[in-house]
Amino acid sequence: MKSANIVLIGDGAIGSSYAFNCLITGVGKSIGIIDVNMTRVQGDVEDLSDALPYVAQKNIYAANYADCEYADIVVITAGVAQKPGETRLQLLAKNAKIITEITNNIMANHFDGIILVASNPVDVLTELVLRLSGLPRNRVLGSGTALDSARLRSEIGRRYNIDVRTVHAYIMGEHGDSEFPVWDYATVGGQPLCDFVPKAQQDQDFATISERVKTAAYSIIEKKGATFYGIAASLTRLTAAVLNDDHAAFAMSVHLEGEYGLHDVSIGVPVLLGGNGLDRILQLDLNPADLKRLQDSAQVLKDNLQTVL
Ligand code: LAC
Repeated sequence: MKSANIVLIGDGAIGSSYAFNCLITGVGKSIGIIDVNMTRVQGDVEDLSDALPYVAQKNIYAANYADCEYADIVVITAGVAQKPGETRLQLLAKNAKIITEITNNIMANHFDGIILVASNPVDVLTELVLRLSGLPRNRVLGSGTALDSARLRSEIGRRYNIDVRTVHAYIMGEHGDSEFPVWDYATVGGQPLCDFVPKAQQDQDFATISERVKTAAYSIIEKKGATFYGIAASLTRLTAAVLNDDHAAFAMSVHLEGEYGLHDVSIGVPVLLGGNGLDRILQLDLNPADLKRLQDSAQVLKDNLQTVL
């Protein structure tokens, strides 16, 4: 059992929603928050602490990098966010600088835990953190397509009127424009979705669902300026899986070493997540078209990584 210390780096809309979500769902025993704006952190610590009498006891505090020594998990949400119409990849140059500095600071403090990256473009930044930190790949993970997979499950559940918890489905690839749904492995209560949905409906339905998932963040950003509740809930669940040693399945960004024929790239694939971080990569037997989609997506990420190395 871990001591369940969380250090959150980045106290913007996503970070503070994540801290609040951890608080009300009882994830972690302590949450230390770091941000360039430590006044805001102090405000959030005071505000979040007001909720403590209603939830499980927790230590919420304004942290500094020395606290990484005792962190079981460091969650990075720092960096600039997408503006309306902007792609995640367009954030790379700015966020690579920020994430480089953060990684160096974490590693200068006897860090011995798991790093969970959420800043965008998350796949490229996860690979960057892995390389800069020198940590083994099981300890550096990106939230990747966990959220997109949740969105996919929600869309399927809504369209066919099924409890989302009995729908299982993955989005693989980049958390971004080159991602894709793996329809062959989508199931409803164990039945393949491709058998559940009438063949005549599939092309149109699946195309609509896929487009909605891919453009979900753009749609939310257009309307309210940023996405935060969905990603915060994803990060909370991923954190719980690490702290509770769940060995639970999620699509996440992990560094591949030959899986799916890919090397030198972190990209969204289904994994089992537990106390040591990446427990195992689930190697789905993808059809040739999906395998090509994954490889093309990986190439997009590799090309982008080159621009910041
Ligand atoms: C989203 C952001 C987190 O997809 O990339 O909501």
